[in-house]
Amino acid sequence: MITETPTTTNDGLHVAIIMDGNGRWANKRNLPRSAGHHAGIRSLRDTVEAAVQRPIHTLTLYAFSSDNWQRPQSEVRTLMRILAAQLPAQAANCVRQNIRLSVIGRRDRLPEPVIQALIRAEARTMHGTSLHLRFALDYSARDSLSRAAQHVGNNGNGDFLHALMRAYNADCPVPDVDLLIRTGGEQRLSDFLLWECAYAELYFTPDYWPDFNGMKLDDALDVFEKRQRRFGTIPV
Ligand code: FPP
Repeated sequence: MITETPTTTNDGLHVAIIMDGNGRWANKRNLPRSAGHHAGIRSLRDTVEAAVQRPIHTLTLYAFSSDNWQRPQSEVRTLMRILAAQLPAQAANCVRQNIRLSVIGRRDRLPEPVIQALIRAEARTMHGTSLHLRFALDYSARDSLSRAAQHVGNNGNGDFLHALMRAYNADCPVPDVDLLIRTGGEQRLSDFLLWECAYAELYFTPDYWPDFNGMKLDDALDVFEKRQRRFGTIPV
């Protein structure tokens, strides 16, 4: 059910992060790729802890894209195992820090333990107000957009935003992305929040995700502060 309740009373930013480079971080150290994913959890925890202290109301993290199903089965299995184990752990951290955790993306293809873990994590943290932390799992912006368009077409009403939220299982409206960070050196959006990033400031860093942390988040926020956002207008 979609609620209209704001996720937080604070003003602030919506920051979204494409957490890329776990595999290359591990390769550089002659470790299996799974070691990179495990190392990425530390960065996740540190970044979330920092985000709570910064003027950020929503943090959306790209944890598993719909295209990631095409990876070798063994890696997909590892990622799903990490997710099933991490969601309860993250939820416990979120409760401590008064964070609301929710998950966007398709739910019908995730393994049952992941679905159960995300439902429980959402329920445990639903009253959190210090930050809205969203994980994008089995997420594809294009798929969500096309399903939302179909829904609006079939139902003959123009409420596209709610149809889009429904398409990726968001349960409350979230403002557009202000700052999109991608680690790992690539400079692309990879089908992430295409609609919501219409006016996002983009920040690309060569750091692999396991080397990212709260201080690196501050570097990105410093750069963001210096950007002049015009939203298509001319500054007066
Ligand atoms: C991209 O690195 C990273 C991922 C596909 C997985 C990110 C997931 C986590 C850090 C765990 C998330 C946990 C929760 C609770 C949401 P890559 O494998 O594409 O690295 P590469 O580009 O170097 O190959």
